[in-house]
Amino acid sequence: MAADIIDGKAFAATMREKVADHVSRLKADHGITPGLAVVLVGEDPASQVYVRNKRKQTVECGMQSFEHRLSPETPEADLLALVKRLNADPAVHGILVQLPLPPHMNADAVINAIDPAKDVDGFHISNVGLLGTGQKSMVPCTPLGCLMMLRDRLGSLSGLDAVVIGRSNIVGKPMAQLLLGESCTVTIAHSRTRDLAEVVRRADIVVAAVGRPRMVPGSWIKPGATVIDVGINRIAVPETGKTRLVGDVDFDSCAQVAGAITPVPGGVGPMTIACLLANTVTACCRANG
Ligand code: GUN
Repeated sequence: MAADIIDGKAFAATMREKVADHVSRLKADHGITPGLAVVLVGEDPASQVYVRNKRKQTVECGMQSFEHRLSPETPEADLLALVKRLNADPAVHGILVQLPLPPHMNADAVINAIDPAKDVDGFHISNVGLLGTGQKSMVPCTPLGCLMMLRDRLGSLSGLDAVVIGRSNIVGKPMAQLLLGESCTVTIAHSRTRDLAEVVRRADIVVAAVGRPRMVPGSWIKPGATVIDVGINRIAVPETGKTRLVGDVDFDSCAQVAGAITPVPGGVGPMTIACLLANTVTACCRANG
């Protein structure tokens, strides 16, 4: 195996320590405790796991956690009323409405009802616009975590060729904006991209965020490239009758060629929550001048 493994789990643990330090200073020096409200509508099993982890880590960092669980039949108006209350609550500095929402709800309307200053997901249209124009914004957690690992590994990213595979609002598009902000030459590839292999082969940085298990083989990777795997796909393992998590890149073959690669699990995933905690502290500091 040629590639270095980028240890997102260890990186995230260090970040959480820094967040916890910052929180204790805010408490000691200013009497302020950052607070994060997480809203979960429905019983999606994956969302329940994410929300539980977010709560646990929020509390472990010394912050206040406010959890709101609503039934899947909750009318959208009730969710909007809750968001309005959280917007007005001075103890709440960050608000996260877990996605996906049930089909009867308009996710855009709900996200855009969140006070942009408390939008720790960075999904509000104002934050999207600020990021796109290079202004100070709340930055979506998963792309932010990817960028931190890239900067840690590579230092300056200026002039590098970066390919982002996937064009979602949550990962692909903001990731491309962040890389552009670092002066990379950025390509966003997606399901309609012609000759994806050729596009990926040019890249010094590959960020895979398509949600298709092991879609990117090692033969697509430029030797020495840095590969960031955002995918979390659960697949069946027929030999054991169990399931396991794999990314969007074929780890074994890509690790033979890449210079560095994130594993799944233990790569991007832990960084996402660490960045959420950091964003909550940032929102708290901005709210308190
Ligand atoms: N569902 C999956 N990822 C995310 C995320 O980063 N934020 C929210 N709000 N929901 C999600």
